Amino acid sequence: MAETKKIAVIAGDGIGPEVVAEAEKIIRRTEEVFGYSFTTEHALFGGIAIDEKGTPLPEETLQVCKSADAVLLGAVGGPKWDNNSKELRPETGLLGIRKELGLFSNLRPAVVFDCLKDASTLKPEVLEGTDLMVVRELTGGIYFGEKFRREGAGGEEAVDTCAYSTAEVERIVHQAFEIAQKRRKKLASVDKANVLETSRLWRETVNRIAPQYPDVELEHVLVDNCAMQLLRRPSSFDVIVTENMFGDILSDEAAMLTGSIGMLSSASMGEGAFGLYEPVHGSAPDIAGQGLANPIATILSVALMYRLTFGYEDAADAIERAVAEVLDEGHRTADIAVDKSKALSTTEMGDLIAAAIR
Ligand code: IPM
Ligand code: MN
Repeated sequence: MAETKKIAVIAGDGIGPEVVAEAEKIIRRTEEVFGYSFTTEHALFGGIAIDEKGTPLPEETLQVCKSADAVLLGAVGGPKWDNNSKELRPETGLLGIRKELGLFSNLRPAVVFDCLKDASTLKPEVLEGTDLMVVRELTGGIYFGEKFRREGAGGEEAVDTCAYSTAEVERIVHQAFEIAQKRRKKLASVDKANVLETSRLWRETVNRIAPQYPDVELEHVLVDNCAMQLLRRPSSFDVIVTENMFGDILSDEAAMLTGSIGMLSSASMGEGAFGLYEPVHGSAPDIAGQGLANPIATILSVALMYRLTFGYEDAADAIERAVAEVLDEGHRTADIAVDKSKALSTTEMGDLIAAAIR
């Protein structure tokens, strides 16, 4: 019997609890099949925590996460909290948990499943072979810089500052090079060095580090051009490394190459093996509670957790194979179904994938 690992589960809002329940089903199934052992501890986070505890990230939730080996997150947010002040917004909890847990590196893979090529708005021949990873810096830049309002000549002004230190750039760029070494050995560093000082520091730092990874082919791409190339030649990208806000935008764009954002997993990592794993999609309040959500992104996030935090390659591979098998057999949730009348519910999809894990 393997050592028991602890997973903190923060299901959050909207479809979060539904998709997380299917991911937990997968966790239990891998215990049966592979003999791994996990304990799960649930904690409140996001809008539901605002309602029940008066804050999106309660101290006890943070403690549950800190005492765990990994965190599984559903999704947060919804119209109910959209007009709240900054402290009482679910998104503030998300930024807080990333910062508090030191999760500076956000990995967002975008893989086009062959059988879903037609679900994308792009032509299948353009998508052929697309398999890329966005490595997004997650705890710096304009998201975390000083913000304030002031009186200016033209009335009230708002200021968001974007700052990056050399050390912040170095640690994420090293990670990106290391990831590229384990993949197809190509790294695109994305910046706006023709305009922004933070981007010039970013590019200098990348160029200084690059000689330590002579086997990785490096290109610098300006962010506007990258947005274009992602639609024109997506399959030519392997690893993309970029700062926080560029990564936010480009990873949504990359997600749509795959046809549905309901398929995409993500990992947020710090220096060690600890990580937070979540679907890229949001809380989708419009379909919450109806059993319509696609649980695949969250299930694939469990595979990422097994691989990156626990090193359980066999179980990670088995989950990914099970997802591919179920899709190949033609099973679809509504978001990826051509014939919506035949679409499976969230739990039906979870059951099929669990059964396909061997
Ligand atoms: C994401 C989200 C968040 C972000 C929001 C909800 C704060 O868009 O995880 O990509 O911008 O980081
Ligand atoms: Mn985003």
